Amino acid sequence: MSHKTPITIARGDGIGPSIMDATLKILDAAGARLEIEEIEIGKAVYERGVPSGIEDSSWDSLRRTKIFLKAPITTPQGGGFKSLNVTVRKTLGLFANVRPCVAYHPFVETNHENMNMVIVRENEEDLYGGIEYRQSQQVMASLKLISRPGTERIVRYAFEYARANGRKKVTCMTKDNIMKMADGLFHKVFDEIGEEYKDIEQDHMIIDIGTAKVAAHPDMFDVIVLPNLYGDIVSDVAAEVTGSVGLGGSSNIGLDFGMFEAVHGSAPDIAGKGIANPSGLLLGAVMMLVHIGQGDIATKIHNAWKKTIEDGVHTGDIFREGQSIKRVGTDEFTEAVIANLGKSPERLIAENYASDFEGIILPPLKKITPEAKERVGVDIGLNFDGSADELATKITPCLTDHMELSIISNRGVKVWPDGAAETFCTDNWRLRFLGKDNQPVKTSEVVALLANLNGADMNFTNALMLHTFDGVDGYTKAQGE
Ligand code: NAI
Ligand code: MG
Repeated sequence: MSHKTPITIARGDGIGPSIMDATLKILDAAGARLEIEEIEIGKAVYERGVPSGIEDSSWDSLRRTKIFLKAPITTPQGGGFKSLNVTVRKTLGLFANVRPCVAYHPFVETNHENMNMVIVRENEEDLYGGIEYRQSQQVMASLKLISRPGTERIVRYAFEYARANGRKKVTCMTKDNIMKMADGLFHKVFDEIGEEYKDIEQDHMIIDIGTAKVAAHPDMFDVIVLPNLYGDIVSDVAAEVTGSVGLGGSSNIGLDFGMFEAVHGSAPDIAGKGIANPSGLLLGAVMMLVHIGQGDIATKIHNAWKKTIEDGVHTGDIFREGQSIKRVGTDEFTEAVIANLGKSPERLIAENYASDFEGIILPPLKKITPEAKERVGVDIGLNFDGSADELATKITPCLTDHMELSIISNRGVKVWPDGAAETFCTDNWRLRFLGKDNQPVKTSEVVALLANLNGADMNFTNALMLHTFDGVDGYTKAQGE
């Protein structure tokens, strides 16, 4: 295969241009078959008054090439600027964030010699929708959304990634003992999709103990797949314990697009000094080469890079007296990697990416059988200064013929009927109304109820319909119910 793959690059800010230069030099010397288009992103674009940090015209290049090698940018402080990473991720549908976290013992100082894991983080859902509400003087709410298709995609990507990269185990982490519905779905879909990957060992851990294990026994893990927020946290924990945050590359993958970058930022403190370590971006570029089917070149570069690390030719960030052999700047490090092209590491494990790999192609989403959805009640959130019993007394005259007040809760805990006197209550209450005798509820009855509450001057903030799906409750019970 000798045709060139078009890619888009951006040099970014701070140390970005110099590490991009280094990376492109190595790609070129290794014979990467690339046709490079360049766009401008970051500080200069923000300062021209483009709040997203990327010009409209740059999207054309990205839509054409579908592959983006991106140097870090400096995110301006202060309001009005949108995170470029989030914009690119959401616009291009980059649902998977993949971060290998590897220790290079004994050449780079680490707390865990045998660490070699890959974090696959869901990138679009969860609490990152940023859907938040102020519900009362005292209470803010943030909405966590987990979808079946979103989960199916990320879980399948993790299994496919494991298969394609010769990895043996995939661990899923959630908090489904508490978030039985949202995290429960993630865990359930993991188990369902896992049935199709019986060649790969699989397990599930609760996120808190899972994170502790990542920090203390990272050698237990191979691939870890997580919802967005947990993935954000665990990937930083994992990168930190490798001892070499500056060496990490990462990819953001969608059905049609891929974005590849270093884990670190633009390091303005060392910009222009010629000492930046280009390894993070280079390893991002290695992931890109694998992704576009140039595994032969990826192998060559990755092994030359490992050999250079082994040779003790180190930039200042990883240089250790007595362990490293030579302290070098960006250019000299780059030359050393180029000189090692064709060589393999002797002690670190050599890489061997398949050269016929065509990228991970996900099959279509599984068909789901629609379930019968029936409206059975409504949760109404309202503000009230007083006790639960006083509130219940005020509500009773507002009830309609077909609905009854089932419970009142405050911060998720049942406070009526029979609440505990000790439960602390805020000014924000949730009232659950259900159809009498488990009868379904019509929208018009909910509207009538709201009209009555309005008439009684009740200060309600939201109404959320309650449904069953094939007879199973589509809502959780209150704590203590
Ligand atoms: P940073 O990762 O840029 O720097 C943290 C520390 O690590 C600094 O002391 C820096 O000198 C060092 N460092 C980072 N990369 C290095 C390398 N390749 N070689 C040698 N030393 C290196 O994080 P910081 O300082 O919090 O953020 C700086 C800027 O980068 C901010 O504007 C931030 O918003 C942005 N940033 C951008 C990212 C991106 O574009 N993907 C990701 C993270 C931060
Ligand atoms: Mg983070």
